Amino acid sequence: MAGIAYVEGRFMPVEEARMPILDLGFLRGDAVYDTISVWKGNFFRLDDHLARFQASCRSMRLLLPMPVEELKRILAECVARAGVEQAGYVQMILTRGKFVSPANRDLRLCSHNFMCYSLPYVWIASPERQEQGLHLAIVENRRTPTEAMDPTVKNFNSMDMQRGLLQAYDHEADYALLLTPDGYLSEGPGYNLFFVKDRMLHSPKRNVLEGITRRSVADLAAELGLECRFADLEPAQLRGADEAFLTSTAGGIMPVTVVDGRTLGNGAPGILTGQIRARYWQKREAGWLGTPVASLVAAKVA
Ligand SMILES: Cc1ncc(COP(=O)(O)O)c(C=O)c1O
Repeated sequence: MAGIAYVEGRFMPVEEARMPILDLGFLRGDAVYDTISVWKGNFFRLDDHLARFQASCRSMRLLLPMPVEELKRILAECVARAGVEQAGYVQMILTRGKFVSPANRDLRLCSHNFMCYSLPYVWIASPERQEQGLHLAIVENRRTPTEAMDPTVKNFNSMDMQRGLLQAYDHEADYALLLTPDGYLSEGPGYNLFFVKDRMLHSPKRNVLEGITRRSVADLAAELGLECRFADLEPAQLRGADEAFLTSTAGGIMPVTVVDGRTLGNGAPGILTGQIRARYWQKREAGWLGTPVASLVAAKVA
């Protein structure tokens, strides 16, 4: 697999990248991360992703071991070394690191472990699959309560999602949608949810990661003159929607055509979904909210 990782201050092929077994990122899931896409030479919404990553770090009291300008340069170098500037995916991770010693388990003394890697662009659903529409199941397992883990912190504590996905397979769906502990629609593994009813867009407000693609959809909806509402939403509203789609850095705007075994609308990806999706990719091709990878790699040489 083409891909480059940056671990312990060194770039290497992604297959060679390893994590120490005693790192609390592994043993406790004590880590935050963020994922950015790269398209036609540009990082998408780089500063928005880095602001979210820094907010995740602050929330978990993790200190980034380098200034943000240096972080940008490392990300850019990872992308350039992998040669994925045209269609890439880059993930940065900061873990708590290891205990100072077996006898000293003070979390405040751990020295944090930063790593990142780049890959060819990752599609949660392939473009062909998106043309057909995804099958989604509203699953039994609920999303972790916000009071237990703030979902706006992008983190790896995702056993709720993993279980949800396994349950979706039981329902002959390949995408899962979890509910909040009190039974409203939330999100699934790696994506936010939208549905369309009577030309209005709806998306869950609580118990979700504030997705950057979700924010981009709100921007595109405004450009298209469509109203977009973030609220507590009932499962029945999704089942009775005209259209639905999932949003993610890894795949963009992904039409849903089946919910809980029943087709939405006429069973084809929705018309407004198609318009939003087309506009998203047209704008991405044209460098929308982009930061050229080359400008950051060059910054090192200058
Ligand atoms: C739980 C969850 N919700 C939503 C998203 C979508 O966020 P974004 O659009 O920033 O990729 C992700 C992305 O990984 C996620 O893990």
